[in-house]
Amino acid sequence: MDKPKPLVFDGMNMPPLRPLRENAEKRFTEIRDLECMKDDIILATYSKSGTHWIWEVVCMLIKGTTEYTKETKEFFFLEAIPDLDVVHNLPSPRPLNTHLPYRWLPKQLTEKGGKIIHVIRNPKDVAVSLYHHLVDFGAMNISFNQFMETMFMIPNPACAMGSWYDYVKEFEQAAENDKHGAILTMFYESMKKNPIDETKRLAKFLNVEASDKLIEDIVEKCSFENLKNADKTIKDQSIMKKIIDFAPNMDENAKPNMYRKGVIGDWKNHFTVALNEQFDKIYADEMKNSKLPIQFE
Ligand code: A3P
Repeated sequence: MDKPKPLVFDGMNMPPLRPLRENAEKRFTEIRDLECMKDDIILATYSKSGTHWIWEVVCMLIKGTTEYTKETKEFFFLEAIPDLDVVHNLPSPRPLNTHLPYRWLPKQLTEKGGKIIHVIRNPKDVAVSLYHHLVDFGAMNISFNQFMETMFMIPNPACAMGSWYDYVKEFEQAAENDKHGAILTMFYESMKKNPIDETKRLAKFLNVEASDKLIEDIVEKCSFENLKNADKTIKDQSIMKKIIDFAPNMDENAKPNMYRKGVIGDWKNHFTVALNEQFDKIYADEMKNSKLPIQFE
């Protein structure tokens, strides 16, 4: 079978999302120029950092309920939705999400008072999660070591949206320059260890009044097991087939597992000692000027 042709835009490999495969520059520019509302919320993550989880928490907080949103977060996924015009008609506040780097977020967003939630997960667990995601999808059939050496750990990674390091460092810089409290940085590991405190922090950032009881209920409804179950029983999954541009060696009927394990430290089951040493060297060099408190366990 033919290999899908890699598509590179702005130095990054593009994920197989229909609008990006058709014309990445057009979609990126439309997003950059998106007309924003003062209460827009954009959840910005590198893939596999817990986007579905935090998105559901955000939706519950802004609606003040513990009802699951019927749609999956892909209905609000800026670079993927078939027609970006539907965003204009969404009710406010709009819980949008994207894997685009900071430089491509809507220009108007923070000028108009909108907010950005940037969720970071440690790159070893991101790599493991991404590896399983791509294998489940039938997008590749290689070992974890091969994936790390040929796709994730190379200077210009062949992963969607490029390098994890570039992605998080660009947001770190933006958060340092943020004078108006428009950017909240969250860590997957902190949310996992202290979900109540982190959800309260998120509510405060969103200017949402939420009782302790509501916070506790949201945390429970958004636990890994409950979200995994809701994904199978409640969620409308119809958008996936519309947005993924299936390459010849990707399985159109595959259902990517968005809720696989949901733990911190699964990398220890995948990294050999040698791979870990190699990774740590690159990490130390890439992150030498970063103050981000990344937690690997
Ligand atoms: P794993 O593959 O390590 O299990 P994204 O939503 O950005 O694609 O991220 C998916 C990752 O978040 C998956 O990681 C998934 O299991 C994890 N995840 C989803 N919901 C979660 C939850 N409620 N608690 C912890 N992890 C969760």
